[in-house]
Amino acid sequence: MLKHLRTTATAAALVVSGTLLIGAGTAAAHPGKPGHGKPDPGTPLRVAADRAHVKFGTAVNTTALADDATYRRITAQQFSSVTAENVMKWETLQPQRGVYDFTEADRLVAFARAHGQSVRGHTLLWHNQLPAWLTEGLADGSIDAAELRGILRDHITTVVRHFKGKLYQWDVVNEVFEEDGSYRNSIWLEKLGPGYIADAFRWAREADPNVKLFFNDYNVEGVNAKSTAYYGLAKQLKARGVRVDGFGIQGHLSTQYGFPGDVGANLKRFADLGLQTAFTEVDVRVPLPADPAKLATQADYYRGLLSACLGSRSCTSFTVWGFADQYSWVPGVFDGEGAACLYDESYRTKPAFDALRAELRQGRH
Ligand code: XIL
Repeated sequence: MLKHLRTTATAAALVVSGTLLIGAGTAAAHPGKPGHGKPDPGTPLRVAADRAHVKFGTAVNTTALADDATYRRITAQQFSSVTAENVMKWETLQPQRGVYDFTEADRLVAFARAHGQSVRGHTLLWHNQLPAWLTEGLADGSIDAAELRGILRDHITTVVRHFKGKLYQWDVVNEVFEEDGSYRNSIWLEKLGPGYIADAFRWAREADPNVKLFFNDYNVEGVNAKSTAYYGLAKQLKARGVRVDGFGIQGHLSTQYGFPGDVGANLKRFADLGLQTAFTEVDVRVPLPADPAKLATQADYYRGLLSACLGSRSCTSFTVWGFADQYSWVPGVFDGEGAACLYDESYRTKPAFDALRAELRQGRH
């Protein structure tokens, strides 16, 4: 890894200074900070995860990665997998029709390479964070359904080819079902009909036969109407010769709604179908202000999801949706909730951090 560090010229600007996988740098950054978090958190999560044969990932905010040295150091030190929080979405990759911009995404891939990390791709199709030229073109009728299909094919083909050999998993379709198990009403469904999902998988497969292709959604941790819709679709696609490799479970939990039931049974039924599973965007928000009791519950929830993952051989990666509260998407979206990450705003670890590491130490079961 250190060898990579010295030789990867493209990553030079992002290189983490000083000690990488050893906690020494942390002590210097936060001498004698009080609270639960220790200045040196000890064995990195990624080291414990390697021993448990699972990738332990985080979503990465590429602005923070460029500007915040502590953020950069922790990203490199603690995680064996990274996901672009935003910069592999349509609005970033294809800001103008037919004009692709891979600058930010490539920078993240270079960082990952320099630090011996794997990269999850997120996401080839979603109903959010689409570029204005596309949403406006559909609204004013200047882009019709046949054209939209061509645009989708071009985007998936171009993007998957660009990253060929560099990513281990792609979220091909993100959030395509409603809570009741019906197809989500989106521009894709409205203009192309439900066949767009099979098309997306076929086009991605053609562009890179080796990368693992995933569904991805929220509220699908347990057995429910929505996860059952994915299960049914995976079966149906398989019967039609369209291979889906994995089921991505986002894992955005809130302590006020309780821990989902049947998570193990859910993973098992997808495994029995021959699919991999992954927790892809885990965070556990609490009603603000946070207190020790809420953070203890939060730790249990994080640990509960990781335990389910380690209990299923199909579960290949466990990714948190950011690790530091000051960059979390949660407070901006969920009123009155927050403190959802493993580190607080001063980069002090929370009980959830220790709980996850303790769970990793137990290994697969
Ligand atoms: C979120 C990002 O975290 C935010 O920065 C952005 O403003 C909106 O998207 N499900 C997903 C992710 O699949 O892509 C979302 O990420 C969170 C919910």
